[in-house]
Amino acid sequence: MALVTHVTQAHAHHMDSDELRRVIGVASLAPSVHNTQPWQFTVTADGYLEVRADTHRQLRALDPLARQLLVSCGGAIEFARLAIRAAGRACDVDLLPDPGDPRLLAILRPGEACAGTPEEIALVDAAARRRTDRGPYDDNELPPGLLDELRSGVERYGLWLRHIDLPVDRVIVVGALSDAERRLAADPAYVAELKRWTTGEERRDGIPNPTPAWPADRVSDVPLRDFSAQQAHRSTRAGEPPVVERDTLVLLGSVVDDPTAHLATGRALAWLLLRITVSGLAGQPLGQAFDDLAGRVRLGSDLRLIGYPQFLLRMGYGHGAEHTARRRIEDVLVTR
Ligand SMILES: Cc1cc2nc3c(=O)[nH]c(=O)nc-3n(C[C@H](O)[C@H](O)[C@H](O)COP(=O)(O)O)c2cc1C
Repeated sequence: MALVTHVTQAHAHHMDSDELRRVIGVASLAPSVHNTQPWQFTVTADGYLEVRADTHRQLRALDPLARQLLVSCGGAIEFARLAIRAAGRACDVDLLPDPGDPRLLAILRPGEACAGTPEEIALVDAAARRRTDRGPYDDNELPPGLLDELRSGVERYGLWLRHIDLPVDRVIVVGALSDAERRLAADPAYVAELKRWTTGEERRDGIPNPTPAWPADRVSDVPLRDFSAQQAHRSTRAGEPPVVERDTLVLLGSVVDDPTAHLATGRALAWLLLRITVSGLAGQPLGQAFDDLAGRVRLGSDLRLIGYPQFLLRMGYGHGAEHTARRRIEDVLVTR
């Protein structure tokens, strides 16, 4: 009799399969490096959601250590957790639960009914509107207090956030991004891989149109990733001084540099991107300087930081960006 009671209670916490499909739909909207969407989901007999790395989708040239794959999957884990919370369930997240199965990145356990907070509901609402915006941003000030909120928000994930506002620090960041781009453009494996993921054809992954048009008289003061891999950063019309855009730059970093920290980075980044979307802001990761460990470590020491830089982001008021397609739920939902 005791056993029957136990089983009934456990099932009372189940989300039904339609609810879990909706959760997977939200998780699939997470950002991922080159829109590789390197994740798989499994619903267990207990009604838990397992998130696995799809290592076939790892970018071997850009990301040989799978750090960016883990950051991407961390985003999907956090989107899924928020979706479970917004659906009115408690949710436990167990990261890297099985040392014998390193592809199993997380188990999410929906629990008892527990209404999502207004913030959680607003964040999930923002998931469908959020886009990586690689276009120009307006110069308007950020909402007061937002950077402080972002700083304490990422701390909940064990990360730190540094606003790169001193001119001397921006020079260091610009140097690191340009050096990285030169190095990457000279690597034929990187260039071939980039081409495969930015072909422009109709498909459900990759980035078909990564370089939006900028007004002819405007440039950013930091090099954005050059998706043509030809160091083809825009130059303005000869003879006319350009308007130089100085977007807000923030750096996320961790105290240690291991797979758990990479997943935590993805979770913090996911929260941050949704939070700025709620305030009407857009963001673009500036990944080049972080594609190799040496670049990240050098940037950290040049900026006099303790710990490991994990992610650099420009943010501001954008003008809208196109939605980038996602794979179907059937393609990411794996039965075991
Ligand atoms: C780990 C990681 C690295 C990324 N690096 C870059 C980058 O260097 N430059 C860039 O423009 N976008 C970068 N992105 C954004 C992805 O290209 C973007 O999330 C993906 O194409 C899906 O588009 P969406 O964010 O608009 O949904 C990165 C995203 C992640 C998660």
